[in-house]
Amino acid sequence: MTRASWNIGDLLKVTTSYLKEKGIESPRLTAEVLLADLLETDRVTLYLQFEKPLTKKELSGYRNLVSRRVRREPLQYITGVQEFWSMTFQVDSRVLIPRPETELLVEQALARAGECDSEGDTRCRLLDLGTGSGVLAICLAKELPKWEVWATDVSPGGLEVARMNAEKHGVGDQIRFRQGDLFQPFRSEKILFHLIVSNPPYVAAEEYGSLPPEVREYEPRAALAAGKGGMDFIAQILRDARDFLAPGGRLLVEMSPEQTDEAMKIAHGTYCYGEIERVRDYSGRYRVLCVRKLSEDSLLGDRES
Ligand SMILES: C[S@@+](CC[C@H](N)C(=O)[O-])C[C@H]1O[C@@H](n2cnc3c(N)ncnc32)[C@H](O)[C@@H]1O
Repeated sequence: MTRASWNIGDLLKVTTSYLKEKGIESPRLTAEVLLADLLETDRVTLYLQFEKPLTKKELSGYRNLVSRRVRREPLQYITGVQEFWSMTFQVDSRVLIPRPETELLVEQALARAGECDSEGDTRCRLLDLGTGSGVLAICLAKELPKWEVWATDVSPGGLEVARMNAEKHGVGDQIRFRQGDLFQPFRSEKILFHLIVSNPPYVAAEEYGSLPPEVREYEPRAALAAGKGGMDFIAQILRDARDFLAPGGRLLVEMSPEQTDEAMKIAHGTYCYGEIERVRDYSGRYRVLCVRKLSEDSLLGDRES
């Protein structure tokens, strides 16, 4: 990019080759997304303006964005946005970039939301544990406008991003945010949830080093790493959730397909869940564990037998 003047078409061509040479995935798309972001336009408009020359300032701004991507910074942190459940969320290095597979949790939670038959003044309550950018709490609040939604995270920075996204999507008043370690914010409140969803950290310590640099070097380690085998949070959530679920309430946890066997064993070992099942993602692999808290009667029966 040393030429004095560049038009959009030529610049995209040369940047695509450069990104390809540097091993960046989807080089043409990346070149277009970065240029559209810089020029505050969309990719289709770029195609209509191939002959348009760029100013020196635009060119140097573009060089800066391209070199960030070449240093493996994720595209979403550079543009500051990620799509999820057909909505646009703001993201930055304080939060995990939401993954498409997590949409399965939204879908599965919605499929079970109809079971909540709370009456009188009590509204159906949902908790998103480890909310990060807020995607699960926000999408579910939008889809379930009558529900009371709670969201927690241990990271104050993450909660700031989640609050910003909740405001942007008009559900700031429907979601209550709490900062703390897993269920700790609720230990002093007598509050029970009808649905708890969580996409906790679940990367095994022994696999952390082989993650792509985009993830390992840029996404928050606290959003990913979960001890040996990656089961630390999953196991703790399964053990603790029984104290925070309403009888008949459901807990849905995302994990890697290889972790679902052990998670099922832990769930059975608590003797307080029934309907313990694994749900497959769109590629046919187990991705979500769903359990239902037994009713008080069944729990007493279990203890007596
Ligand atoms: C895998 S990310 C999921 C973020 C978001 N829910 C999503 O699906 O994109 C896990 C989240 O759990 C949070 N977290 C990590 N340890 C936690 C803890 N002890 N208590 C509460 N949240 C925690 C992280 O800060 C991070 O936001």
